[in-house]
Amino acid sequence: MPVITCIEDLKRLHRRRTPRMFYDYAESGSWTEQTFRDNSTDFEKIRLRQRVAVDMAGRSTAGTMIGQDVAMPVALAPVGMTGMQRADGEIKAARAAEKFGVPFTLSTMSICSIEDVAAHTEKPFWFQVYTLKDDDFMKRLFARAKAANCSALVITVDLQVMGQRHKDIKNGLSAPPKLTLASMLDLATKIGWGLEMLGTRRRFFGNIVGHARGVSDPSSLSTWIAEAFDPSLDWDRIREFRSWWDGPVILKGILDAEDARRAAEVGADAIVVSNHGGRQLDGALSSIRVLPSILDAVGDRIEVHLDSGIRTGQDVLKALAMGAKATYVGRAFVNGLGAMGEAGVTRALEVIHRELDTSMALCGERDVADLGRHNLLVPRDFEGDWA
Ligand code: GLV
Repeated sequence: MPVITCIEDLKRLHRRRTPRMFYDYAESGSWTEQTFRDNSTDFEKIRLRQRVAVDMAGRSTAGTMIGQDVAMPVALAPVGMTGMQRADGEIKAARAAEKFGVPFTLSTMSICSIEDVAAHTEKPFWFQVYTLKDDDFMKRLFARAKAANCSALVITVDLQVMGQRHKDIKNGLSAPPKLTLASMLDLATKIGWGLEMLGTRRRFFGNIVGHARGVSDPSSLSTWIAEAFDPSLDWDRIREFRSWWDGPVILKGILDAEDARRAAEVGADAIVVSNHGGRQLDGALSSIRVLPSILDAVGDRIEVHLDSGIRTGQDVLKALAMGAKATYVGRAFVNGLGAMGEAGVTRALEVIHRELDTSMALCGERDVADLGRHNLLVPRDFEGDWA
């Protein structure tokens, strides 16, 4: 068992053990990757305020997200094709999350289906919704999530069209991988991955292949999005979705105060301040930079969560201290999954938890709920003066 001390260790193993097209899929941003990079470098600009001689016994990272108990305010974000990073990947990640006590969010573009994940887990998970043009499919999707006892819907609102990630095109990303000379040479060095994949029947987009119509290449994520996704999604349609679901609804992909107000008006329970991990609009600001303006607009009316750029427990601490109620990790748990399967996701969560807990202690705090701007040193021009 390799010694894992940080998410970077898992990332190195992920890269070594997983076919290149899937590793690259997870680790890419769109176009120049400026926003993808800013998501991390903006977290680095914020520093922590050390305090001493404060009683640090009996610390707690526990809290709630949309009224549900969590061991720490860190949910697993919806990540497409997680079941290609490792065989049965969504089931493995969901199991690790439920044992750890944090929410798992299943993507519409997952490999394991909603029913499959429900059959292999004990606790309710969250389901992320992408909007396809096929209305019957959408109604059935909501009904399937309800039948699977999903305890929240996460509606992604920033991907009616897909941001271009160069490597996915160059690698010919597909699920399962198409056999070309380049992919076969790569797969020859990923034998463990291949053997596990041969042992599962879950190798296609489990929520949509066989359920949705009208796609010329059902193995390609970009073809699904270009041909089947509904580019006309608007606030009326989101309001309609809200009325179809009688449980909590989270709107993911808000990056603007005006959109945050609209999200509060349509009756969402929470928003995720997110630029989709820098995978959609390259050139947009980092999530952590826009967070203060969104909190000013809606912080007293709706729960405000944050994703994009969270790689460590210190990033979690910074986001919470800046005012987010909770955070999400995508790549960090996928690194764990690609490195070591379910045990790797557990390890990723343990690493983040320890980093959060230790940093909290050294900042003189015993409870995540008490974190605030007083724990941070934030450059005066951090948010920027944009015209
Ligand atoms: C899908 O959500 C993606 O970012 O690839």
